[in-house]
Amino acid sequence: MNDTMVKLVTETSLYYDENVTNYVAIHPEDGMFSQAKQVKILSKHDTFEFEVILKSTVTPGVIALNHFQRRKYHLKKYRSYFVSCYSYKTPSLTLFDIINERFNFKNRIGGMESLLEEIFGNVLLPRLYPQSFVAKTVITKTRGILLHGSPGTGKSLIARTVCDILKVNPKIIRGPEIFSFMLGQSEQYIRDLFEEARQDQQNFGSNSALHIIVFDEIDAVCKNRAQSNSLRDNVHDNVTAQLLAEIDGMIYLGNILLIGTTNILESIDPALLRPGRIEKVIKVELPNAAVKQPLSNIHIPFVLTVQSALI
Ligand SMILES: Nc1ncnc2c1ncn2[C@@H]1O[C@H](COP(=O)(O)OP(=O)(O)OP(=O)(O)O)[C@@H](O)[C@H]1O
Ligand SMILES: [Mg+2]
Repeated sequence: MNDTMVKLVTETSLYYDENVTNYVAIHPEDGMFSQAKQVKILSKHDTFEFEVILKSTVTPGVIALNHFQRRKYHLKKYRSYFVSCYSYKTPSLTLFDIINERFNFKNRIGGMESLLEEIFGNVLLPRLYPQSFVAKTVITKTRGILLHGSPGTGKSLIARTVCDILKVNPKIIRGPEIFSFMLGQSEQYIRDLFEEARQDQQNFGSNSALHIIVFDEIDAVCKNRAQSNSLRDNVHDNVTAQLLAEIDGMIYLGNILLIGTTNILESIDPALLRPGRIEKVIKVELPNAAVKQPLSNIHIPFVLTVQSALI
């Protein structure tokens, strides 16, 4: 081994490329790996060593292998793994850095790097990258995500940022407001929410624009029946049933993304979380000490600007 080589370790995600055999493929400009001849992928049980080839079709920041290798080595689909290699280069970008370079998360959302990577992989990537690339991977289009966590942890901020990045004006519904309608109208309201997307799909097929529906406090609409009390009535049941029916109908619509938020996951009817409905449940946690610094970098300049304007 050359003296100037250093061992580098980073966390990265695995993708699939059927044309890759007995080695892994890496983008030629991938700062960290492009100098490496071999990489080691660390799984929970073992470490696997692969030869590296450079392929410009691979997304920078990820490693591509094929399904045969995935099965042989029990590596899970689209999951972050620690990867180490010997390289001449100093560590450069993590997957998050690469995503951030394009979308500038760091100026809007502090910390949450692994959570944003997860959202990127499940929600943004399948909608931002060409279908030809996505079809080569096992990434599936997530139709719905549920963000849960304590108040103020940034759930609405994440939902807003996803809409900004996808350049979609979302329909935002606050769960409890649905029940302010006249009898029978709540169900109609839920039907109407999905109607525009349905029409678009009919008229434009796979060229239809993306529709995002954000349900804040979705627990109000889909209350856990096991925890229900006397306050729960027919209207609640009908509205829950209507929403579940619309979500089931989304199977035929490729043009809707549903984002739900809630403070208490347990208060949601488990029927909403069954496979095929809201597929991805993501916990948004309170920031730890390491995250607080980036957070203050986002908010303090704003506070200072307001203060100086007031003086
Ligand atoms: N990680 C973060 N980075 C930057 N700002 C944040 C972050 N988390 C929260 N904030 C800020 O804190 C405030 C509250 O966040 P937000 O409204 O998204 O929380 P929430 O989880 O939706 O709360 P609730 O459950 O009460 O609706 C917002 O001004 C948001 O910009
Ligand atoms: Mg909120």
